[in-house]
Amino acid sequence: MSKILVTGGAGFIGGHTSDLLIEEGHKVVIIDNLSSGLRENINPKAIFYKEGLNNHNKIKEIFEKEKPEIVYHLAAQVNVRKSVENPIEDARINVLSTLNLLELSVKNNIKHFIFASTGGAIYGDAKIPTIEDHQPNPVSPYGCAKLAIEKYLNYYNKVHNLKFTSLRYSNVYGPRQNPKGEAGVITIFFNEMFSGKSPIIFGGLQTRDFVYVKDVARANLLALNDNKSEIYNVGTGKETNIIEIFSKINSFFKDKFQPIYKKKKKGEQERSCLSYEKIKDNLGWVPLVSLNEGLKQVYIWYLEKGNKL
Ligand SMILES: NC(=O)c1ccc[n+]([C@@H]2O[C@H](COP(=O)([O-])OP(=O)(O)OC[C@H]3O[C@@H](n4cnc5c(N)ncnc54)[C@H](O)[C@@H]3O)[C@@H](O)[C@H]2O)c1
Repeated sequence: MSKILVTGGAGFIGGHTSDLLIEEGHKVVIIDNLSSGLRENINPKAIFYKEGLNNHNKIKEIFEKEKPEIVYHLAAQVNVRKSVENPIEDARINVLSTLNLLELSVKNNIKHFIFASTGGAIYGDAKIPTIEDHQPNPVSPYGCAKLAIEKYLNYYNKVHNLKFTSLRYSNVYGPRQNPKGEAGVITIFFNEMFSGKSPIIFGGLQTRDFVYVKDVARANLLALNDNKSEIYNVGTGKETNIIEIFSKINSFFKDKFQPIYKKKKKGEQERSCLSYEKIKDNLGWVPLVSLNEGLKQVYIWYLEKGNKL
């Protein structure tokens, strides 16, 4: 069992990942500034530091005090639109603070650095289902930053022998997702319908690959077995369009909502769907939760929370 630092452990994916690591017997230390994460997502067995990753000296002190063996880096500026509005601020977190973590990882002999990357924002419009070797074509500062970090990971591996795994998630959904996040269409629709509003659909025929958050947490866990410093897609290989998502969610509300249709937003990706053959072959990961089952779990979670986020 290892001592593991999880950045962003109060967030949506970081919370589920920390829970699973703790369940598996690991000791978890969380760093999160609670900018989009929530205290209630933090596993009570984890050691928690409310700290911003941009405070490089404080992060250094935490490394020296806690002496983690493994790092999961999930904290990020996750909003693509914000990255377009302010690329410099995006890079401060998603590039520079990540570089600080990589430097500290080398200096503190971290055995494995596991990074939350992205499929859609790195590949852009691509052949479907997209494989890891597809030529990257990020069209947002957010995607550029994630790709840049993958290049740095390769550098730190080759020159400093830091083992890494980069996981390119597709559109993650599930309980605890923040509707202001990167890929929150499912949460946004549930949120609106639970407050009695008809969702707005921009376009509607765009497709996405929706992967359930507990499947993603399991991919994160299995990454510990990666000895090759690889990049893996984490998706389902299935495409679903936004109108289909709306209909599936509407069925929990006895089909009472009529969506409001608006023009597709300029520059929005048409299709996104990731092949998971590589992670299946190397780490034995396959998605286990179907979209229908996952949506049901989100619905139940909303009911249990009294319909409010
Ligand atoms: N949700 C998705 O569909 C998706 C898809 C691809 C990649 N990702 C990546 O997965 C990771 C987790 O995303 P998520 O969906 O759980 O988002 P999230 O917003 O729930 O989690 C991010 C966490 O990082 C924390 N954080 C942000 N900036 C920080 C800073 N400067 N210092 C310390 N903590 C900070 C936030 O408070 C939050 O708890 C991110 O790196 C994101 O880019 C997510």
